[in-house]
Amino acid sequence: MKINTQKIAINNPDVELYIRREDLIHPLISGNKFRKLKYNLIEAKNKNESTLLTFGGAFSNNILAVASAGSESNFKTIGIIRGEELEGKIDENPTLKKAQELGMQFKFVSREEYRNKNNKDFITNLKSEFGSFYLLPEGGTNDLAIKGCEEILTNEDDIFTHICCSIGTGGTISGIINSSFNGQQVVGFPSLKGDFISNEISNFVKKSNWNLISDYHFGGYGKITEELIRFINEFYLEYNIPLDPIYTGKMMFGINDLIQNNYFSKGSKILAIHTGGIQGIQGMNELLKKQKREIIITNEI
Ligand SMILES: Cc1ncc(COP(=O)(O)O)c(C=O)c1O
Repeated sequence: MKINTQKIAINNPDVELYIRREDLIHPLISGNKFRKLKYNLIEAKNKNESTLLTFGGAFSNNILAVASAGSESNFKTIGIIRGEELEGKIDENPTLKKAQELGMQFKFVSREEYRNKNNKDFITNLKSEFGSFYLLPEGGTNDLAIKGCEEILTNEDDIFTHICCSIGTGGTISGIINSSFNGQQVVGFPSLKGDFISNEISNFVKKSNWNLISDYHFGGYGKITEELIRFINEFYLEYNIPLDPIYTGKMMFGINDLIQNNYFSKGSKILAIHTGGIQGIQGMNELLKKQKREIIITNEI
């Protein structure tokens, strides 16, 4: 599969910036979710499982991607959703509403209960409740997901000096690191606060040609500022490329800032991976409207 890679015209003659439009792979199974699900869906079929069960929060890209993949590939889908308060509000939540329309069944749990998502007893109880299922962890990250993400880079990508990727659970960047070329640096932009992700990635990869830039989480997961929204909107108006506020917006903000501060040496050729997440804009905009803040421009408005 050949994915469109666009050159971004930037105001700096010393470096070149490109963006790989993985977000265009599929409107709902976008970007890294397509990569993460590819081998997992094959494995689920091989194991004769007819149900996929996964986890996610209010506007989870993973929840919607699994609902959509299940509907396309004939799996029943179950979503364990963080936040009991969302149960009566599905109609107000574009992500959950779409997932439900695609046939996903939900179980809403408290934030406390949700923390057990990797706990063996919790999973056993879910099996008693729902019967046999193929488990896709939160964010969709497991060994097969990483194998899928190894296919983001292709043989022609050795021309790039840097590959940039946003980070949640660390699965996507791990696949990219595994398939990166010698001499290439993989730069990750965590969208969460905290250093734990570095250890997670170390467990998944064997190479050391990577580093994390932790200065662009904007206060933590799901947190956004006016400055970030303004950047996302300006980027969209200038390049006609939508960015999501949780992952890719923060990464592109970071790359832009680093370029301006001469982080990348002269002659660098940077490839930023657009990992998708555009479906989440609508839900974020609902929140922003309620807070009477500037919203994110999309072609759906
Ligand atoms: C759109 C988008 N980009 C990037 C990421 C980060 O990927 P990972 O969790 O594999 O680090 C996610 C979360 O999975 C995502 O939904």
